[in-house]
Amino acid sequence: MNRVYVCSCFGVTEQQVKKHAADGARTPRQIASACKAGTDCGSCVRRIQAILGRGACPRREPADQGRPVFSDFDELGELDEAA
Ligand code: FES
Repeated sequence: MNRVYVCSCFGVTEQQVKKHAADGARTPRQIASACKAGTDCGSCVRRIQAILGRGACPRREPADQGRPVFSDFDELGELDEAA
């Protein structure tokens, strides 16, 4: 069996990511919830994103339309509060 590892921090394979996607995961965050991939060093997140496909990125649509990509996210408000 040929195993292609996507996330070396947690030993998650491409096949596992594809299975989680088939089970309903649509974003890297949902993949992380399913198997922790992407939650340590983060170097695999782009690869996970590529496996999920272009449509899976929640920030892609505003970027394609030339709008700010962070304007819809509440985390920025939390960052302001922390500063
Ligand atoms: S390689 Fe996936 S979190 Fe480090």
